[in-house]
Amino acid sequence: MARRSTPPGQHRPVLLDEVLKILDPQPGQVVVDCTLGWGGHAAALLERVGPTGLLIGLDLDSSNLPRVKERLEAVGNAFRLHHANFAGLDGILGGAPGADMVVADLGMSSMQVDDPARGFSYARDGALDMRIDQTRGRSAAQVLATIPEEDLRQALLDLGDEPAAPRVARAILNAREETPIVRTAQLARIIQEAIGEPQWRLHPKPGTWKTHPAARTFQALRLLVNREMGNLGNLLRVLPWCLRGGGRAALISFHSGEDRLVKSAFRDGLRGGIYEVTSKDPIRPAFSERQANPRSRSAKLRWARLAAR
Ligand SMILES: C[S@@+](CC[C@H](N)C(=O)[O-])C[C@H]1O[C@@H](n2cnc3c(N)ncnc32)[C@H](O)[C@@H]1O
Repeated sequence: MARRSTPPGQHRPVLLDEVLKILDPQPGQVVVDCTLGWGGHAAALLERVGPTGLLIGLDLDSSNLPRVKERLEAVGNAFRLHHANFAGLDGILGGAPGADMVVADLGMSSMQVDDPARGFSYARDGALDMRIDQTRGRSAAQVLATIPEEDLRQALLDLGDEPAAPRVARAILNAREETPIVRTAQLARIIQEAIGEPQWRLHPKPGTWKTHPAARTFQALRLLVNREMGNLGNLLRVLPWCLRGGGRAALISFHSGEDRLVKSAFRDGLRGGIYEVTSKDPIRPAFSERQANPRSRSAKLRWARLAAR
C-alpha cells in the first residue's frame, strides 16, 4: 500500500515489527511517539489505533514536523504533533488520561545526521552545530570553545567510550588555541591526527575496516550539546505518570549509556511495583535488518508494562 511505504532514501523504522508486537496497538487506543523523526513508527501505530484512536507525537527538531504531518494525514486518523522535548512528556499530556503506549526511538534520524548543515557528520563538512533543537541552546562549536579539558576528557570517556580521550581532549584544546573550531571537517581532522588511524569506513563490516576515528568524539559531543542523557533520565522518571494502568512503553537506544539508564529505570520500577513486567534482555535487530540498515546495528529495545492502578 503506497501510504505505508518508507520515504525515498529512508530505511524502514528500526525494530518496527518488534515494537508493534510489544505495544500491540488496538483500535481506539492513545499512543505517544516521543521521537517522530520521519514518522515511520508513528504512521504504523496510527494506522492500528484506527479512526477512534489518537496519536500524540513529539520531536525536538521542528523541521521534522511538516513532513510527518503530511505523512500522518495520509493515514487519515486523529493525531496531534508537538515541537517539544520528551523530557517534559508529562506536561505535554497535561490533564489528558494516560496513554496506552509510549514509544521512543532515541537519537537522530539519518536525515539529520546526513545533512551537512546540521553539523552532526564527520564525513560531510558543515558548520559545527549539532543542536537537535535549532531554536535554542549552544552549538557544538560554542561548547568546544570554552569547555575545560577535564570536562571534555570525561565526556569523551562517558558519552563516547573513546579510549584515546585524554589525547583527543588535549589535541582539541591545542587546536582551539590556534584558531576556533567551527567546522565538522576541521574537528574530524584534529581527532584523526590525534588518534592516527588513516583507514575507516562509514559503516564497516565487523572485522574489516574501522569506524572513523572521529565517530566516538562526535557522538559524545552530540550527546553533550543536547543533554541527551538528562532528557532520557527525565523521560524515564515521568513515564509511569504518562501511562494508564497496564500501559506499555518501548524504548530503543543506540548507546550503551542510554541503554544502562533504561535498563536500571525499568529494573527499579519492577522492584518497586510500578511496572508489572519488563523485558529481561534487550531485543536486537535481526541480521537481515542490520544488513539492510547498518545504523540499526547498535539498537537495543527494552520494554515495560505499567502495573494496574
Ligand atoms: C531515530 S529518530 C526517530 C525515527 C522515527 N522513529 C521514525 O520512524 O522515523 C529520533 C528523533 O528523535 C528526536 N529527538 C531527539 N531527542 C529528542 C527529545 N529529547 N525530545 C523529542 N524528540 C527528540 C530527533 O530530532 C529525531 O527526529
